[in-house]
Amino acid sequence: MRLLKKRRDIQSDVASLKKQNKTIGFVPTMGALHMGHLALIKRALNENQTVVVSIFVNPTQFNNQEDLVNYPRTLDSDIELLSDVSKEIIVFAPSPKEIYGDQVTSISYNFGGLENQMEGKFRPGHFDGVGTVLKHFFEIVTPDKAYFGEKDFQQLQIVRRLVDIENMSVQIVGCPIYREENGLALSSRNKRLNQNQLEVSPLIYQILTQVKNDFGTKSVHMLNKWVSEQFENNDELTLEYFEIAKVSDLKSIQRKYKNTKYRAFIAVFAGEIRLIDNIALN
Ligand code: PAF
Repeated sequence: MRLLKKRRDIQSDVASLKKQNKTIGFVPTMGALHMGHLALIKRALNENQTVVVSIFVNPTQFNNQEDLVNYPRTLDSDIELLSDVSKEIIVFAPSPKEIYGDQVTSISYNFGGLENQMEGKFRPGHFDGVGTVLKHFFEIVTPDKAYFGEKDFQQLQIVRRLVDIENMSVQIVGCPIYREENGLALSSRNKRLNQNQLEVSPLIYQILTQVKNDFGTKSVHMLNKWVSEQFENNDELTLEYFEIAKVSDLKSIQRKYKNTKYRAFIAVFAGEIRLIDNIALN
């Protein structure tokens, strides 16, 4: 494993790998690595000769300063973890200045409306920040393939759109959600959950699974109502949104149509910590 912090260093490594006709997989992360990241990295290692893992807490995608300040930063243990995985990994851990120069600002994107749904509604500017940082990273790393988890399904669809808009040749690979045995989707934010919150958070996936089971027989209205009720008397978890949406445009629906793919999406607060999850319904 190699650790690089400068744009010019990674660019020169990438140039020499390309001269040797090596393929480059890219796994962008904000660090605080967990098994979900490792699953993406292992898949990337299987499908490419070299894998670049970026570790960068991207300031432009946080609409809440407190969330940015509290986001877990564990660079030393992340590096230790990756050094055991493969020598074909290059870790790129730049400073904000290395990525943004003196102006830490986002490009304003039109992702065809995808950016206005769910996370976009509750985290204004978030997807402009994600799009901007990934545009920078794709330009620096010039990967053949880039890997994203389906836990951030809206982000995954937006990244596919970003690549079209920016006319980039990177192939975007979506990977299944990695869960704890109790169903809780892995997230760097889970590191901030206290014992009580850890115990109750698997409820999120239990609810999604029940919705999936009932999707064929119950109306969207009934499912929405049932989900809200599950959180009504819950002291630990507060529902921010639950939506059943079309996979194609992520617009929430009030009724189902044949031959259309749907997913259920949820965001929940455990105290200050915001957890998201989703599930394919058909
Ligand atoms: O999913 C994340 O961790 C971030 O949004 C990403 C893709 C690394 C961009 O900062």
